[in-house]
Amino acid sequence: MIQQSLAVVVAITTVAVLVAATFVQRYQFNKKYKLPVRIPGIPFFGNSFQLPPLQQGPWAKKMAEKYGEIATWVFLNSSRTVNDLLERRAAIYSSRPDFPMTQDIISRGSRIVLMPYNDRWRMLRKIMHNVLMARQQDVFMPFQDLESKHLLWNYLEKPDRWWSANGRYANSVIMSVVFGRRSMLDDPDVVELFETIELFLENQQPGVNIVDGFNFLKNLPKGLQWWRPRGEAIFHKTFKVYKRELEKCQAKLEAGTQRECFATDFFKSEEYQKMDETQRLFTLGSLMEAGSDTSRVTIGQIIAGAATYPDWVARAREHLDALCGRNAERLPQFSDKPNLKYICAVVKEGFRWRPNIAEIGAPHMLIKDDEYEGYRFPAGTVFTWNAWSIALDPKEYPEPERFWPERFMNDDVENALKGHWAFGPGRRVCAGWKVGEMNVWIAIARLLYCFDFEHIPGQEIDTMTIPQITKQKAPFAVKVKARSKAHADLIRRECVDVINIVY
Ligand code: HEM
Repeated sequence: MIQQSLAVVVAITTVAVLVAATFVQRYQFNKKYKLPVRIPGIPFFGNSFQLPPLQQGPWAKKMAEKYGEIATWVFLNSSRTVNDLLERRAAIYSSRPDFPMTQDIISRGSRIVLMPYNDRWRMLRKIMHNVLMARQQDVFMPFQDLESKHLLWNYLEKPDRWWSANGRYANSVIMSVVFGRRSMLDDPDVVELFETIELFLENQQPGVNIVDGFNFLKNLPKGLQWWRPRGEAIFHKTFKVYKRELEKCQAKLEAGTQRECFATDFFKSEEYQKMDETQRLFTLGSLMEAGSDTSRVTIGQIIAGAATYPDWVARAREHLDALCGRNAERLPQFSDKPNLKYICAVVKEGFRWRPNIAEIGAPHMLIKDDEYEGYRFPAGTVFTWNAWSIALDPKEYPEPERFWPERFMNDDVENALKGHWAFGPGRRVCAGWKVGEMNVWIAIARLLYCFDFEHIPGQEIDTMTIPQITKQKAPFAVKVKARSKAHADLIRRECVDVINIVY
């Protein structure tokens, strides 16, 4: 009896001490830091269970605040605050939080996009920069030209496969540069690559993997980590997909049939020698991954914009027809870019309109305590730009729901980074933005010149819920039809040669 009473007293005292310690800690924290208003959540788990597993954009727009309990997330809801913090103070706002599932298990620490802001990230970022920026003009453009002709051919011959054709196009451009090989429609290796991309994206959504929100769970013994076997399986699948590409390239090198490409330079580099196998594969894989999905999605968004707001298409065609003829005399070329600023504006509007590649931005972790407009943030606070909310805020963009390229017809029209946040801010800005912009520009100039895009009666496009993750299916229904017989003939004439080129 005495023992039982003693146990009760000890338990009560322990709880009281813990509660008191928590209050003291919270008091000290609150004295030192001042954070913005929280969205009410449930104790301990905060807002985790309020987050929809996909398409958080509309949800976050409604919240337009911050969420989180243990790791604090701050949503920046205006371009002004994104500029002030993530751009101007990028030196301390460019790290990433821990992702025990998606980075440590699914990527074995090797996916650049999730790396903390450290020397390893800097080394990889330099490699990416060399392939994606400096060399892009001379290296990427011929492939973008060729592959966009193949894209037109696919749209003409298989209009209902337009979504797969977008994926093939974007993938083939990056594969040509990285591995010196093209990809064809329904290439099983590419289908599997897209599966791994979607697995990664699905698992990266906040709230899907509880350990990525509540990092302390990673200290559980491995046998108790219920998420680990699923993560390991995704890692092995991804590793296999990347390794297969590397092995194909090495086999061609031995046979003397491999074209020069990024991989052949990379194999000879000092950095390659220093990396382990996983980092080598994930460097090549990150290029394939980031280069394939994003352009496919953006081209799709612009097609949705064309089908739902056709007024701007007519204006785009005035510009295109003035250069290439009303009667389909020739295809638009890269050399037309200075005279096709309207198409640059269309592409920028496509990036802004419904930012479904990063609906709630991407996490930027603060690495040093900081103060801003009366708030005091501790190091470790995670910031993001609330992409959906900013893009659809009438204070930022008049008539934000409308697809309206004219909003970008200003002095910055040729600067693809300015005026929207689709590529992210600061030092983590998309490493491949130039390639992405050029991919989309040439594809859209040619598609708009040659094809009509109409919604299908009874299958209206709900532009607010176009998903990024679609399991290989088109995210919406649209009717694709050549503008005229002359345009169809132009495609047959100018594009027939490229479809049989194999390397
Ligand atoms: C075409 C449309 C594209 C969009 C909208 C896009 C968007 C983004 C966004 C939002 C980020 C995260 C930025 C941040 O954290 O602040 C990112 C990162 C990245 N993107 Fe893109 N991207 C595109 C195309 C590409 C292409 C074509 C490539 C490469 C071939 C690429 C490679 C990368 C890489 C390597 C990162 C990681 C950068 C880092 O963490 O330092 N992206 N992209």
